[in-house]
Amino acid sequence: MSIRLGDIAPDFEQDSSEGRIRFHEWLNNSWAVLFSHPADFTPVCTTELGLTAKLKDDFAKRGVKAIALSVDPVDSHLRWIDDINETQNTRVNFPIIADADRKVSGLYDLIHPNANDTLTVRSLFIIDPNKKVRLIITYPASTGRNFNEILRVIDSLQLTDNHKVATPANWQDGDDVVIVPSLKDEDEIKQRFPQGYRAVKPYLRLTAQPNK
Ligand code: BEZ
Repeated sequence: MSIRLGDIAPDFEQDSSEGRIRFHEWLNNSWAVLFSHPADFTPVCTTELGLTAKLKDDFAKRGVKAIALSVDPVDSHLRWIDDINETQNTRVNFPIIADADRKVSGLYDLIHPNANDTLTVRSLFIIDPNKKVRLIITYPASTGRNFNEILRVIDSLQLTDNHKVATPANWQDGDDVVIVPSLKDEDEIKQRFPQGYRAVKPYLRLTAQPNK
């Protein structure tokens, strides 16, 4: 089954390195990052999971929980976590789903047979507190993800959910943002953006980030 932006993230019950997970219950109205990796005891995945553990405070301050997945069983995850902790100088502090029967992989379309017919691809989903899927990215097995980009997208989503703005190319928290084209009423614009805005074109109006 393929998942599209705006869909409710499919619920499931599956084993993990931290016990049985009932996914919607585990989400508990929080933001979440669910990411799959091809296999345990692989080098790129080891660095990704170590980095995710190190970013715990960055995720926590945005109200985001992390959860990983591969098709390896729990005992493998637990042995691998020891390696991640040792080699990446951290402590894995989030669950890794043990999707040995590929139940969750099927729900989230994580096996792309023309890339690899048994292992999960490197996909990542950002899920909001309404359990809606807000970002989907899929990387090749040979390329580790950029977790600064994941944090940047979360910042953008949380900003644009609360203000009538969108974030331009390469935006970083604190940079100017654009006023959404649907907002035309000048009184409302003045009230929402008292610091004013700069119209480069009628459809390209830049203003200071409103929550700063
Ligand atoms: C890795 O995580 O290191 C990896 C996994 C599958 C293929 C290549 C690299």
